[in-house]
Amino acid sequence: MPVSLFGRSLLTLLDFSQEEILYLLKLSKKLKNESKSGKIKRRFEGKTLAMLFEKRSTRTRCAFETAFGEEGGHPVFLSTSDIQLGGKESIEDTARVLGRMFSAIQFRGFKQETAEILAKYSNVPVYNGLTDIYHPTQALADILTLTENFGEVREKALCYIGDGRNNVATSLMIICAKLGINFTIITPDELKPYGDIRKKIDSFAEKSGAVTTVTSDIKAVEGADAVYTDVWVSMGEEAKKEERIKLLSPYQVNQKLMEMTGKKETIFLHCLPAVKGEEVTADVIDGPQSKAWDQAENRKHTIKAVMVATLVK
Ligand code: CP
Ligand code: NVA
Repeated sequence: MPVSLFGRSLLTLLDFSQEEILYLLKLSKKLKNESKSGKIKRRFEGKTLAMLFEKRSTRTRCAFETAFGEEGGHPVFLSTSDIQLGGKESIEDTARVLGRMFSAIQFRGFKQETAEILAKYSNVPVYNGLTDIYHPTQALADILTLTENFGEVREKALCYIGDGRNNVATSLMIICAKLGINFTIITPDELKPYGDIRKKIDSFAEKSGAVTTVTSDIKAVEGADAVYTDVWVSMGEEAKKEERIKLLSPYQVNQKLMEMTGKKETIFLHCLPAVKGEEVTADVIDGPQSKAWDQAENRKHTIKAVMVATLVK
């Protein structure tokens, strides 16, 4: 049976099969080529997208807005200082109303539960543009970037170093386990992924053959094809800044760490925004091994693929 994602929400990636993820990646490549060669279609003509933001964003907002607009759709940006969302009006009621007016909803915010409620009560596809615990559209762009550099990514080694429990690390762990990519998280004991997510990952990895490793030893970076990091303090955790700097300083990605991979062709990835001088040094992120800028561009093409797959028959 051909893959059909029509009408689906993208909330976590946990419920997407390997085949469905590969389908989205293939579609992303096709749409990227089309976009680059100016062959834009009007796939979203007559469609509307509500873009709800509780947290700030550059890439995610711009990716959704430009991808949707480029294909003739009408995106509407709604920050939570403009609309009722669990304030005067329940999230359920806002979802019901948005579902009557929009073809789909993008949500970026704090609680994962808000995205889930929006999906349950709106009856239109809901896309998670980042919550405290997941960042699924980012993970798709990350793997598209890997495939652009390595072709087949099965059995490639991706090493994430830094806060091992944040949204980016968790979504990467999920997608790698689903696709058979060997994934290592290097993080201090205090920031190791929680047991419940590890259990889910283990069941995916068993099926795909991926090896998932969690360790506090930076030597585990040896052999990595890609080294990935993210900010030490995620949005909403600002009070933890001092504690995180203390915990994570030994885990900075710098030239010395890149050399510890033992491979010259290893690439560097970062979801951005970056705090240069904290999780990564400027010479690495601005240097020749960095693919962070391709990765940022790929947010647009992968997000477009998710919307085409779920909104266009
Ligand atoms: N990577 C990412 O989600 O960037 P923004 O926070 O700018 O959207
Ligand atoms: N972990 C970061 C990702 C930003 C794209 C955050 O949540 O702030």
